[in-house]
Amino acid sequence: MQSAQDLRSLKSKLVGESSPISKLNALIKDLPNDQKANAGKLVGSARAELNAAFEAKESELEALERKEQLKSETVDITASPSVLRHGARHPLSLLMDQVSEVFVGMGWEIADGPELENEWFNFDALNFHPDHPARAMQDTFFVSPVEAHLLLRTHTSPVQVRSLLERELPVYVLCPGRVFRTDELDATHTPVFHQVEGLAIDKGLTMADLRGTLEHFARVMFGPEAKIRLRPSFFPFTEPSAELDVWHPDAKGGPRWVEWGGCGMVNPNVLLAAGIDPEVYSGFAFGMGIERTLMFRNGVTDMHDMVEADVRFSEQFGSVI
Ligand code: PHE
Repeated sequence: MQSAQDLRSLKSKLVGESSPISKLNALIKDLPNDQKANAGKLVGSARAELNAAFEAKESELEALERKEQLKSETVDITASPSVLRHGARHPLSLLMDQVSEVFVGMGWEIADGPELENEWFNFDALNFHPDHPARAMQDTFFVSPVEAHLLLRTHTSPVQVRSLLERELPVYVLCPGRVFRTDELDATHTPVFHQVEGLAIDKGLTMADLRGTLEHFARVMFGPEAKIRLRPSFFPFTEPSAELDVWHPDAKGGPRWVEWGGCGMVNPNVLLAAGIDPEVYSGFAFGMGIERTLMFRNGVTDMHDMVEADVRFSEQFGSVI
């Protein structure tokens, strides 16, 4: 007999409605009258005896089961607690938050836009010529059907146009976000990465404002000795355009200039695409890669570390939740 359950089924078999003893009881009515009382007594006392035995066994089993249950629920209040690992936020998220804080501190707003973007926002509105090589399949993930003109945004610059269409002027926005290019994952490339885009449109903004903003940004990121340098370059959506280098005082292997991103004065054609009069308003934009920034700022040498989500990598940057 294993359990109270087993006992109950045995009980119904031995004293239940179709048990032999119940059948015997049913036969009593067919006996001659003078034998009925005696037979009734015999059957009744046999049933009483069986019932008493069952009851005794039942309470014995119940007590046993209760004891087992209490034993299994015992809490050892002297045991040492198992330590819950907190994990750590990914350093890319931390860095994007840190960058956002720098600009929110200057009164800028955070903007975002879709990762699945219209070709028009990603290229046309940004003054990319229809034959511009960046549109070609080897750089851009186009999404089928091609006629839908949808793609995975190749940079955060489409948010420039979206912000200008959605917001009242003046506009000071920062857009950190994920971007996509058809690169193979290796030590320095990943097909999915992050950029941060800055856009300021106001009356009377000049390249000096761009310089001052980037210099402040660089000093917060790389220390008070950081400097910036602009080198002439080309982007379809800025004119003039520049490559941005930063003097990184604590670079691994000694202080040095590092390529950091692109920038420039917003091309009047971009303002026109957003319905803004370039005779009245002007502004600047800049953009840089977050992975790249993390690499040279924190001496990360392999992109694989950033995409593998190993908490031992993330923990080195602190376990800030
Ligand atoms: N979108 C450019 C890139 O991905 C960077 C950039 C942003 C350049 C804003 C100028 C102004 O390379």
